[in-house]
Amino acid sequence: MNPSKRRTVIAGNWKMNFTPAEATAFINAIKPMVAGKDNCDIIFCAPYVTIAAAQAAAEGSNIKIGAENVHFAEKGAYTGEVSAQMLTACGVEYVIIGHSERRQYFGETDETVNLRTKAALAAGMKVILCLGEVKEQRLSGITDEVVAMQTKLDLAGISAEDLKNVIIAYEPVWAIGTGMVATPQSAQDAAQAFREHLRATFNEHVAQAVRVLYGGSVSSKNAVELITEPDVDGFLIGGAALDVDELTRVCTLTLATTSSHK
Ligand code: 13P
Repeated sequence: MNPSKRRTVIAGNWKMNFTPAEATAFINAIKPMVAGKDNCDIIFCAPYVTIAAAQAAAEGSNIKIGAENVHFAEKGAYTGEVSAQMLTACGVEYVIIGHSERRQYFGETDETVNLRTKAALAAGMKVILCLGEVKEQRLSGITDEVVAMQTKLDLAGISAEDLKNVIIAYEPVWAIGTGMVATPQSAQDAAQAFREHLRATFNEHVAQAVRVLYGGSVSSKNAVELITEPDVDGFLIGGAALDVDELTRVCTLTLATTSSHK
């Protein structure tokens, strides 16, 4: 079991869902369930236009509201983009960077993921960095190489000190929104491989301290077996984070398991 007592993270990625009114209703409904769960970080990453409403609803609770992306420039001619300075000015602490949907549909590369990560960290934000292999890479047996290369490129030039503010989310692309969840063993293998990379690049302390999440079709049916793995510190959840009842089940099961095992 996890000896380092890393805080569990349950993060929801709302993607392009929820109007401000829907986000308010969701947060109000989930608030009683998360009340008092102070031994974990509960974060919902929201579309930019929904952040303020979600923050207002979450006020006074242990829920944190994050963004789903951030640009690497401070300001300038980047139509449609939002900077880390703008987010922090709005009280946003967390941001997802490098989600596979950004990589697949919006031309995000390891280079831009790295630039965005550095900019967010420099602005004092906490980054949820997403990476993971696509189906063809898994079928070709090169998952380890792909994930090692993404880790190396995405974290290039980031200091051990800054890594305290990075959470890694391993999201095998073929498992996202498909109902095909990674086996607990392959989630564990990937999480362990990240730690080995961090150990080799930084040091043992960093390798043990960084939280590694699993994402991809997480539900109440698979949360317990995934979180039982020693190197899996929590989840980045898509579909189930839009459904109050299902998310309540995932949180309850996950936190009951971490408090008894980890
Ligand atoms: P699903 O949980 O819907 O598979 O989405 C996972 C995800 O993309 C979280 O970022």
